[in-house]
Amino acid sequence: SRLLVLEDKQQAAPAAGAATTTQLHILFGSQTGNAEALAQTAAKAARAKGLVPVVQALGEVDIDLFATMRHVLIVTSTYGEGEMPDNAQLFWQAISASTAPRLEQMHFAVLAIGDTGYDGFCQAGKFIDMRLEQLGAKRVVDRIDCDIDYEEPSSTWIGGAMPQFAASAGSSGTVLESAPEAPVIPGSNKQNPYAAALVTNKRLSGEQSGKDIRHFEFDLTDSGLKYEAGDALGVIPVNDPALVTLLLTQLNADYETPVPGFERNLGDLLTYQFEISEPSRKLIEWVGQNTTNQELRHVLQHDDKDTLGVWLWGKDTLDLLQLELTRSLSVPEFVAMLRPLQHRAYSISSSSKAHPNQVHLTIASVRYHSDGRARNGVCSTYLAERVRRGEKPAIFISPNKAFRVPANNKAPLIMVGPGTGIAPFRAFLQERQATGAEGKNWLFFGDQHQEHDYIYQDELNEWQQSGLLTHLDLAFSRDQEEKIYVQNRMLEKGAELYAWLQDGAYFYVCGDASRMAKDVDAALYEVVRQFGGLSSERAAAYVDQLKKDKRYLRDVY
Ligand code: 2AM
Repeated sequence: SRLLVLEDKQQAAPAAGAATTTQLHILFGSQTGNAEALAQTAAKAARAKGLVPVVQALGEVDIDLFATMRHVLIVTSTYGEGEMPDNAQLFWQAISASTAPRLEQMHFAVLAIGDTGYDGFCQAGKFIDMRLEQLGAKRVVDRIDCDIDYEEPSSTWIGGAMPQFAASAGSSGTVLESAPEAPVIPGSNKQNPYAAALVTNKRLSGEQSGKDIRHFEFDLTDSGLKYEAGDALGVIPVNDPALVTLLLTQLNADYETPVPGFERNLGDLLTYQFEISEPSRKLIEWVGQNTTNQELRHVLQHDDKDTLGVWLWGKDTLDLLQLELTRSLSVPEFVAMLRPLQHRAYSISSSSKAHPNQVHLTIASVRYHSDGRARNGVCSTYLAERVRRGEKPAIFISPNKAFRVPANNKAPLIMVGPGTGIAPFRAFLQERQATGAEGKNWLFFGDQHQEHDYIYQDELNEWQQSGLLTHLDLAFSRDQEEKIYVQNRMLEKGAELYAWLQDGAYFYVCGDASRMAKDVDAALYEVVRQFGGLSSERAAAYVDQLKKDKRYLRDVY
C-alpha cells in the first residue's frame, strides 16, 4: 500500500549530501490511523524542503527526549468527545504534569483533525498546542483544526508549514529529488477504492432480537488487496433514494435539476456526493437564523452543545428544511452547505489467513422511527438493504497497525467485545487458528438476550471445544432482573484475569466507547487493584505500563 511505500522511504537513511540535516520530528496521535497517514504525508513534504523527517507515535516518545527536540510537528486526532487518542494519553500526562520540562528551544506546529459532529472538536490538538506554548515552545505556524474532510485543508496547511520549519531551521530549503510515486492498488486507500462484489449478506441476530446484526462477505479474488486482522474496511455508501426523493420534493426540484459549478445533477449529488442524513453545522446555523422555530433559535442562542445535541437527536437535513423558514433556500445555497459524503469504517471480522479471497464485516443496521418517519443509518442500511448479491460497493482497506494480534504466538490474549465489538476478535481467533498460535485466548462477549443476540454462537462453541478458546465468558444483560455486563464478568474472574496479565497477556477492547469501554477500563483497573493487592496509585501505574507496553489496546467508537 502507499502507506507502506512511504514508510520504507522513511526508514531509508537521509540522502547523502542533503542540504541540511535538520530533523523534523513528526509525532502523531492516532486512534484509527488517519493521523498516522497524515504524518507520513507531512514527512514527504518535509523531505522536499530539505528537512529530515522522523515519524513517531506520541506513545513512543520519551518525555526527556522530547524536551531535546528542536523542530516538532504534532499531528493528532481527537477521540470520542474531546479526548486524547489512546496512543497520546501518556504523552499528554507527561507534558501536562507540573514537573514537565521547559521547551524554550522547541519550534512547533500542530495539525489537529476531528469531527465537528462531536463535542470537543479537535480538542486533543487544541490542548497540546496550548500546553506547548505554556512550556515556552515557539509556534512556527498557527494550528489548523480540520474536519472529517481533512485531506485538502491539511495538505494546503502542510505545504505552508514546511517552508516555515525550514526557515526556522535556517535550512536552504533545497529540494531533494523525491522518489517516484509507486502505483497504487485500488482499494489500498480512500482515494482509490475497489469495487468488491458482495457475496454474502446474512442476518446473525434472531427474528425476535431488538437488533438487526448482519454478516457480510466481500470477494477480493484478483484484487491484490491485503489486510491484517485488526484492520478496518472503509465502505463508501450511497444515500437512501427514498430520502433523496423527499429532499427533492422539499426543495421543489427534480432529480435532473442542474447545479451551477457541478457536473452532476442535483439527484446524483444528493445520492452519491453529499451527506444528507446528519445535518452540517452550516445548515444548522443557517436554519437557526432563518426560522421562526423558537426551540431551535433558543437552543442556538444559548450556545449550549448538550441541549443542541438533544434537540438534533435523530434529525436529518430534511427535518431542518421542514421547519418553518422565513426565507426560502435555493438549491445552490443548500448544496453549498452540505458536507461531502464520508466513508464508514468497520472493523474487519475475518482473517485473510483463513479467508484469502474474502473480507468479512459484522454490522448492526441502524434504524429508528422519529417524527412519523422511518430513519436509517446511511451505510449500515445501504449494505443491509440496497446492495444486492453480486453488486460491488466501493471499499478500501483502512489499516489499524496499533490493533494487531501480537507477533509473539505464545502471548495470551484477553478480548472484550460485546455486540458487534466481537468483529476484530473473530478475525484474531481465525488468525491464531490459521497460524497455529499456541497462546491462550479468552473472550468476553455479551449482548441483550442469549436466545436472540448470541451471534457466531456455533463458531465460538467450536473454538471452545477445539481448545482455541481457553475461556468464553458471556454477559447477557437482559436475561435477568439485574443487568450483567462484560465488566461484571471480568470482576468475577478477576483472580485469573490478573494472573493472565502477570503472564504477559494482551488486553483488547472493541465496541462502544461512550459507556462500555469506559466501564471496562474501570473494571480492568479494579481487577489489578484488588487481585494484585495494589494501592490505587500502583494499580493506575500498572495499567499505564500495560498501555506503554502496547498490551492494552482498544478499537472503540
Ligand atoms: P443493555 O442495552 O441491555 O443495557 C451490547 O449492546 C450490549 O452492551 C448490550 O447487552 C448492552 O446492554 C450492553 N451495555 C450497555 N451499556 C453497557 C456498559 N456501560 N458496559 C457494558 N455493556 C453495556
